Amino acid sequence: MESQTKFVAISNQKGGIGKSAFTVLLASYFHYLKGKNVLVVAKGIFKSIINMDYIFTPIMPDRMAMQSSMSFVATVQNYINLTPGAPLKEIHVFWNRVNIIYYGYEK
Ligand SMILES: Nc1ncnc2c1ncn2[C@@H]1O[C@H](COP(=O)(O)OP(=O)(O)OP(=O)(O)O)[C@@H](O)[C@H]1O
Ligand SMILES: [Mg+2]
Repeated sequence: MESQTKFVAISNQKGGIGKSAFTVLLASYFHYLKGKNVLVVAKGIFKSIINMDYIFTPIMPDRMAMQSSMSFVATVQNYINLTPGAPLKEIHVFWNRVNIIYYGYEK
């Protein structure tokens, strides 16, 4: 039995940054293309994400969003550094909504 459930959070304290959009993409990819069983759960923040295996954090090129996102990532990374036995192993940041550089907020 090589199947082992992985717990992944798409998380950021900042709103409107693409968490839901990326969650749907990722769940669809694993289910329809990879044939995996996928369960998607909408949950609150810190208490639940520290029990994940991995966190993926969308960020967007906006000053306020970046300040909020970086403080979130720093807090989580600090928790990981201080808690070696925790389920949570890594947090990864990726760019999303980069088109606002060109089109601004109107589009
Ligand atoms: N890569 C993308 N390309 C185009 N539109 C996007 C992209 N990512 C997100 N959006 C759009 O940006 C808006 C915000 O995205 P989304 O609802 O996924 O953010 P969220 O982080 O889940 O927000 P909330 O914190 O309110 O739940 C939505 O209208 C979504 O369709
Ligand atoms: Mg959402």
